[in-house]
Amino acid sequence: MGRIAYVNGRYVPHGDAVVHVEDRGFQFADGVYEYFAVFSGRLADAEGHLERLWRSLSELSIRRPMSEAALVVVLHETVRRNRIKDGAAYVQITRGTARRDHAFPHPSTPPSVVVTAKTVNYAAEQAKAAKGVAVLTQPDNRWGRCDIKTVGLLPNALAKQAARAAGAYEAWLVDELGFITEGASTNAWIVDADGTVRTRDTNANILRGITRRSLIELAADAGLNVSQRPFTVEDVKHAREAFMTAASALVLPVVAIDGATIGDGKPGPVGMKLRALYEQNARATAR
Ligand SMILES: Cc1ncc(COP(=O)(O)O)c(C=O)c1O
Repeated sequence: MGRIAYVNGRYVPHGDAVVHVEDRGFQFADGVYEYFAVFSGRLADAEGHLERLWRSLSELSIRRPMSEAALVVVLHETVRRNRIKDGAAYVQITRGTARRDHAFPHPSTPPSVVVTAKTVNYAAEQAKAAKGVAVLTQPDNRWGRCDIKTVGLLPNALAKQAARAAGAYEAWLVDELGFITEGASTNAWIVDADGTVRTRDTNANILRGITRRSLIELAADAGLNVSQRPFTVEDVKHAREAFMTAASALVLPVVAIDGATIGDGKPGPVGMKLRALYEQNARATAR
């Protein structure tokens, strides 16, 4: 008998156990999970794992897809259908499937629920334990590699949602020294009091935006003074202009930060000129 998985209300053969391509677990790592050891078909440490599962969901404002009793039935049923005596059960719950956008989908979106189970050879595990194992140290940089465009976007999604909930379009992220690093899905720029166009250097732990890179060249070619120097929230408040860049936003003027107006509260001439330059160049060179 082949393996069986539970996917969104159905028990299906393992090979057919799929979630949608726009599931937020797949797109943003916007989900939580638990792994239970299974002994004699029963879930080990069930209370602790279930308690942490509900807590993780609650911390991410993902609603409970079913009652605890119902979830335990699904876990047991998956274990039973896979004829597992000693093994493990895995449950993953995501914010569900919705058109891709960092901010949360409509609250009516049902969470996705996946349960799998497998047999574990605890005799082999015992042999491993009897020998002991080695470890290797690694820097704890979870997740300190913002230069990689990974789908591990949960912090970005949470920041974007906080911005949207506050009536803003984008979140600008601030490091421990008070400098803006970048947006949740964009790079951040200002035109400072001297008229210098500034965006943070890429030695910082940010995504090296392709739009950013092209715009630095275009702005310099247009005779603007461009500097890759970090700026603080206060610098933004006192800037002439601010804007963000991304393939999804092109060059998008920013007129307020944390409720404070930037410049005269309207898109500025430099930002609008750079937007036009960028779009013109991008259209002419697209292939
Ligand atoms: C965190 C972050 N910064 C910056 C950008 C802008 O990059 P690009 O101009 O390559 O679209 C993105 C784009 O998704 C992003 O996710």
